[in-house]
Amino acid sequence: MYSVKLLDAGTPERASEQLVTLRIDGVTVTVPAGTSVMRAATEAGVRVPKLCATDMLEAFGSCRLCLVEIEGRKGYPASCTTLVEAGMNVRTQSRKLADLRRGVMELYISDHPLDCLTCPANGNCELQEMAGVVGLREVRYGYDGANHLRAEKDASNPYFTFDPTKCIVCSRCVRACEEVQGTFALTVDSRGFASVIAAGPTDFLSSECVSCGACVQACPTSTLMEKTVIDDGQPDHSEITTCAYCGVGCSFRAEMKGSQVVRMVPNKDGGANHGHSCVKGRFAWGYATHPDRIRTPMIRKNIADPWREVSWDEAIAYAASEFKRIQAKYGRDAVGGITSSRCTNEETYLVQKLVRAAFGNNNVDTCARVCHSPTGYGLKTTLGESAGTQNFDSVEDTDVVIVIGANPTDGHPVFASQMKRRLREGAKLIVVDPRQIDLVRMPHVEADYHLKLLPGTNVAVINALAHVIVTEGLHKEDFVRARCEMKEYEKWKAFICDPRNSPEAMESITGVLAADLRGAARLYASARNGAIYYGLGVTEHSQGSTMVIGIANLAMVTGNLGRKGVGVNPLRGQNNVQGSCDMGSFPHELPGYRHVSDPAVRALFENDWKVKLEAEPGLRIPNMFDASLDGSFKGMYVQGEDLAQSDPDTQHVTAALRALECLVVQDIFLNETAKFAHVFLPGSSFLERDGTFTNAERRISRVRKVMPPLAGMADWEVTVALSNALGYPMHYDHPSQIMDEIARLTPTFHGVSFDKIDRLGSIQWPCNDKAPAGTPVMHVQEFVRGKGRFVITEYVPTEERATRQYPLLLTTGRILSQYNVGAQTRRTANLLWHDEDRLEIHPHDAEQRGINDGDWVGVRSRAGETVLRAVITERIQPGVVYTTFHHPFSGANVVTTDNSDWATNCPEYKVTAVQVSRVAQPSEWQRQFTEFDKRQRELLPAHEQAKA
Ligand code: SF4
Ligand code: SF4
Ligand code: SF4
Ligand code: FES
Repeated sequence: MYSVKLLDAGTPERASEQLVTLRIDGVTVTVPAGTSVMRAATEAGVRVPKLCATDMLEAFGSCRLCLVEIEGRKGYPASCTTLVEAGMNVRTQSRKLADLRRGVMELYISDHPLDCLTCPANGNCELQEMAGVVGLREVRYGYDGANHLRAEKDASNPYFTFDPTKCIVCSRCVRACEEVQGTFALTVDSRGFASVIAAGPTDFLSSECVSCGACVQACPTSTLMEKTVIDDGQPDHSEITTCAYCGVGCSFRAEMKGSQVVRMVPNKDGGANHGHSCVKGRFAWGYATHPDRIRTPMIRKNIADPWREVSWDEAIAYAASEFKRIQAKYGRDAVGGITSSRCTNEETYLVQKLVRAAFGNNNVDTCARVCHSPTGYGLKTTLGESAGTQNFDSVEDTDVVIVIGANPTDGHPVFASQMKRRLREGAKLIVVDPRQIDLVRMPHVEADYHLKLLPGTNVAVINALAHVIVTEGLHKEDFVRARCEMKEYEKWKAFICDPRNSPEAMESITGVLAADLRGAARLYASARNGAIYYGLGVTEHSQGSTMVIGIANLAMVTGNLGRKGVGVNPLRGQNNVQGSCDMGSFPHELPGYRHVSDPAVRALFENDWKVKLEAEPGLRIPNMFDASLDGSFKGMYVQGEDLAQSDPDTQHVTAALRALECLVVQDIFLNETAKFAHVFLPGSSFLERDGTFTNAERRISRVRKVMPPLAGMADWEVTVALSNALGYPMHYDHPSQIMDEIARLTPTFHGVSFDKIDRLGSIQWPCNDKAPAGTPVMHVQEFVRGKGRFVITEYVPTEERATRQYPLLLTTGRILSQYNVGAQTRRTANLLWHDEDRLEIHPHDAEQRGINDGDWVGVRSRAGETVLRAVITERIQPGVVYTTFHHPFSGANVVTTDNSDWATNCPEYKVTAVQVSRVAQPSEWQRQFTEFDKRQRELLPAHEQAKA
């Protein structure tokens, strides 16, 4: 039978360069020092029975099933806890060993229900398998004495159950929660025979458990078991694919029955996740077959008209004729397209190609505009490449971690687990965030410094950190001399040493004590390896690009670039943000970040695409909205993006969408943007498509089709059909051919192909002749731009300030169980953890306003007003309020303004001046939203309404 657990080597791999040779059952094997005898045996092709050992966890040595004989040693040591020694001669099979193992098994089975035939783990249970392996034939101890066979099942978690009657107390679950996930939610209560596994005082749901699934995966019995397997039975085949949620890009084994997914199991060979997962990728995939999926193309002339279901041919012909009509009437530049970071590289590449080649303009932009566009600008300017410098594994060599404006345990949970492991090993931590994120204090992790700055003052903080380092002589002048442009450096040095950038001068602006800032700067500068990880709390500001540049300056001046353990690491929000940027989704850049105004670059694409390309950059998303309201922009093709919910200043965005004559939305659900659309093209989920995603560490991984597209066409096929209908011919038989074209035209992708990814598992670009297997760490000998460039980062306060009218600063973020606009996670049981967005407010600000926990409060800015329920908490500092933005009705973006980054127009989501007060009813916008939403649902075909 199909079983993923058969691949378990028992104990983790060791990386030592020192090798040890020994003999096991007559087979000579050589392994790195520090390897267990059990693992060495596995590598010699010998399987030693085991129960408490698994190669995701350190050996524990409790079950005594893996006993072996070692020549010259007394007794029967456990092979999982015994390390190899040179010249060792090990026997894994003997009459005595067989008797001992049977005795161990007999004890286990005497307290285990013998209901294998009806057990959900039947056929994929290590206990069952081991009973067979050791040849257990009888159990001499009856069930009359004390046992655990009537213990109560805990089904409180929506995704898995805990059935203590099946538990053998091997503690693999407890260790997985500690070592792999780092949550410490489980304990072994009592001792000896009375030992039981406990999750919190009552059950899993009310415990600290974050539903990552590590314990379920580690459990050798059916004690911890996925509910989908209980309901549907064991899978019979699998396919490796990549999670469709965040920028960690976890690799998963989609375990199937026919074309039905039974469970998603994190892939131990996954380069980004090494067999770990979070609740979203592991369990929240049910949205892919949710009844809300729209499976038939639809068109309508006007957004007040009912939708009409049509064939693919008719929908595509209609969309093409509308775009052609608009261009004929209003000019070539009156249409544009939006690519999505939810889509594959190949799909994204095709959309930008369609815009440039079929529309004949550069009006293409991507959702990265509203998240990480400053990363591209800032890192390109200073280091020469618009991407993070390290792989995730690099953190294992880091001594001081700085986390700025990111919340890894919620936003990038699997990487957070890796980081937490390093912190538990002793690495130091500096958190720069207005809010107390979990990393500041959690089990066995405590930040050395939490610089609780005021929203909007990032640049002041980064400048002050650099000021301390340079003025106190803690910088690495040798590194700078060897690797950076000295003229620019000297200018920057004079700027940064100016007393106006000192922590003392900045204290009243940032709200951070000068002493803390000095301490944090000294800590980072003194690290053997210091690494900076940052997120949207850096980029989504009016000085987002300046801050990214400031981070790069800080890394350069401390020599923290170009090797393992260091670097500048943007934590990308969506699964393919890096890829959508790489693929030329910006209006000024062709794939590979090459400017459209460069004639040589254009010539390369013109020759290949057989079309003349426009040299002038096109419109950015906010420019498209403005142009729509001006009447000069009339048609938009939006693939996989929900502008109406995710972009700032909702009322401005929806007015712009309403003003379009043809809005084509390609998505799996009728999202908020689709309610303004004239053509709806049903999209395919990640389970229905072939292609690649590129994660935050530039890792290109395969997305593999495990079921046919529910609407009949994959997204890339739809773009090809639309382009053909527009008169620009495209032809591909498979997405691998699209990647071949990308590789042909993009120097950093020259060596990438589906075949190579299939062979290597994944590849981190640049991948070309110089780096055929990819590049885990960038800028090793020199920076991509040659010499690193210091750029002056003058702190300029945002115009968005607290005033008497709007005295509080609103900042926003994500939560673990939900994902961005929530279109996917709201259609899963994750709603149990977060069914509405709430406003966090400090007790002091709440008291001043007479607000109690749970009260409805109006949040009003100069852009608009919405109403949320209040949560009173000291996680947030006085003067600042915080909310998530996962539910459309919350209208978080009704409140955010049109302020944006000076260089890239990335919206300033993280700072909005607001007033908060108790209210009794939803806001006017919420009332209108509800009405519009209801009306749009009524315009759907009757069978779609019936599903709702
Ligand atoms: S729940 Fe599973 S992993 Fe945990 S102790 Fe019991 S059998 Fe072992
Ligand atoms: S699901 Fe994850 S967090 Fe929850 S108990 Fe298991 S290992 Fe711990
Ligand atoms: S960490 Fe990100 S990529 Fe990994 S399983 Fe969770 S959501 Fe998916
Ligand atoms: S597997 Fe070695 S003691 Fe359990």
